[in-house]
Amino acid sequence: MGVFTSGHQEAGHDGEAGGHEQVVFCQDKQSGLRAIIAIYSTALGPALGGTRFYPYVSEEAALADVLDLSKGMAYKNAIAGLDLGGGKAVIWGDPGRDKTEALLRGYGRFVESLGGRYYTACDVGTYPPDMDVVARETRFVTGRSVEHGGCGDSSVLTAFGVFQGMRAAAEHAWGSPTLAGRRIGVAGLGKVGKHLISHLLDDAAQVAATDIDSRAREWVRQTYPQVEMVADTSALVASDIDVYAPCALGGALNDDTVPVLTAKIVAGGANNQLAHPGVEKLLEDRGILYAPDYVVNSGGVIQVADEIHGFNFERAKLRATKIYDTTKQILELAAAEGVPPAVAADRLAERRMADVGRLRTIRLDRDH
Ligand SMILES: NC(=O)c1ccc[n+]([C@@H]2O[C@H](COP(=O)([O-])OP(=O)(O)OC[C@H]3O[C@@H](n4cnc5c(N)ncnc54)[C@H](O)[C@@H]3O)[C@@H](O)[C@H]2O)c1
Repeated sequence: MGVFTSGHQEAGHDGEAGGHEQVVFCQDKQSGLRAIIAIYSTALGPALGGTRFYPYVSEEAALADVLDLSKGMAYKNAIAGLDLGGGKAVIWGDPGRDKTEALLRGYGRFVESLGGRYYTACDVGTYPPDMDVVARETRFVTGRSVEHGGCGDSSVLTAFGVFQGMRAAAEHAWGSPTLAGRRIGVAGLGKVGKHLISHLLDDAAQVAATDIDSRAREWVRQTYPQVEMVADTSALVASDIDVYAPCALGGALNDDTVPVLTAKIVAGGANNQLAHPGVEKLLEDRGILYAPDYVVNSGGVIQVADEIHGFNFERAKLRATKIYDTTKQILELAAAEGVPPAVAADRLAERRMADVGRLRTIRLDRDH
């Protein structure tokens, strides 16, 4: 029997995924809502993370995903210097078929019931207009549409931040942050990939790109005729590139791609680029500098986090510019401590959660 059997259950989670503060199962039979909200940590503030609307094969798969993703958000928010913890939610269903006003509003009520311990936003399968609907039931939502005072499409600062992280890696590897004259391979020409290409071309880089979707390829062909189109990701990875920017789905760095990769740097927008633990070591052994995914792609969460107190694009952009400094700091720390950059990033994020989170032991009046 699954856990979606009663209206609202809560479970303290301390299983093999480890250390989550709170996992909430939500169900509304009438609208077909089945959601799981996972809060990994509130050490730095309310947990922030998007809502993934996805047709999981099973409840176990949905749970595994939300536990993983919420932990990732805690690290991403910590490294981005935000006063926010990490959480995430999944709605188990087909967004094309199951997404209705009632379902989204029901979901909003469950978010509200957590009293501000969790802020939701967009993720795969949810968009700013969906957050506008969720916001009719809860205050704890961000990533709304511009018409509703929101920050709109977060891929704008995600791509900008990836560009900053790539510049920092270039500086670390080659002594200069410019990408002029370098050949960058962009895999995935969706929202993030398209914006990234524009930054790269402005910096006089050469761009080679690929996507499985012919409409995305066609858009880039029309908009940026100077971009060289490559047949597929395997061809792109094996071609002569200086930087590889995975901007499609997770697992781009794996046992097949890393051995044939010609690039000296990997810096891209995709989440969860390392297919399994140990890939960061494979990259290091081949002398490839990996700018950790959650560090360089944190511009999107910086953009939506800014909306919580009233969105200001310039302020958010300034904060996303700092991804350059953070990436540099992580690459230097990795070199100094003799560990892969992914390990150095985790250490830095954990240190901030522990050091700043601990300050709550200094009791304030408002704690009573
Ligand atoms: N949008 C954001 O603000 C944001 C923030 C942080 C991280 N990310 C991550 O960045 C990645 C891209 O996000 P997005 O918003 O651009 O998504 P998107 O859906 O707009 O674009 C993804 C693109 O990748 C293409 N693609 C899928 N599989 C492919 C493959 N095997 N080879 C080549 N192309 C392939 C798709 O056709 C699509 O064009 C995702 O991993 C996402 O989780 C996005």
